Amino acid sequence: MRLRAIERDDLPLAVQYLNDPDVLTYFGQLAPFSLQDEEEWYERMRHDNNVVNFAIEVDGRYVGGCGLINLDHVHRRAEIGIFVGDKTYWGRGIGSEAMRLVIDYGFDYLNLHRIYLRVFAENARAIHVYEGLGFQHEGRFRDAEWRHGRWLDMLYMSVLEPEWRLRSADKGVADDG
Ligand SMILES: CC(C)(COP(=O)(O)OP(=O)(O)OC[C@H]1O[C@@H](n2cnc3c(N)ncnc32)[C@H](O)[C@@H]1OP(=O)(O)O)[C@@H](O)C(=O)NCCC(=O)NCCS
Repeated sequence: MRLRAIERDDLPLAVQYLNDPDVLTYFGQLAPFSLQDEEEWYERMRHDNNVVNFAIEVDGRYVGGCGLINLDHVHRRAEIGIFVGDKTYWGRGIGSEAMRLVIDYGFDYLNLHRIYLRVFAENARAIHVYEGLGFQHEGRFRDAEWRHGRWLDMLYMSVLEPEWRLRSADKGVADDG
């Protein structure tokens, strides 16, 4: 697995992923999403200094995206987001590894202090990944979004740079031992 820049050639697959109801259950916008929408997003994203997005590539195939948005260089914080759009790749550790690399990037190269995220309270798989990476629960916005004909709560989670460094150091020791 590697992270790389999103290329224009990735966009048709991205559109396929972002129209898949299983991918969208707890992610993105539930509205028809065209190639033109994706191309417009791509152009906006390329010129937005407050966003860093990566393509997730496995065995040469573009399978999803992971990145930082709402970058704030004064308060040294950003929001992280991820989707593995090709469902056949779920459960193989790719989401966790992509998140780990983007968090390292945020702390090591963007000098961030805090990386936070929002996740629907029902998105058990994603929450499991985030907890496994050391994200702390910060709060619950009740009835935050109307989706699937009902209100869903939204959880807020974050990891701070010192916590991340401590975990990475501990993990290094555990891996060595
Ligand atoms: C959430 C997502 C990024 C996870 O990616 P992934 O590559 O499947 O994640 P991983 O394989 O690294 O880890 C999945 C973990 O969830 C666990 N898991 C799977 N289903 C689960 C469930 N229903 N409840 C709890 N844990 C679950 C797996 O056992 C695995 O944990 P483990 O490594 O301890 O065994 C991916 O499923 C996805 O893109 N979903 C759709 C978009 C989305 O919801 N994005 C997040 C929005 S906040």
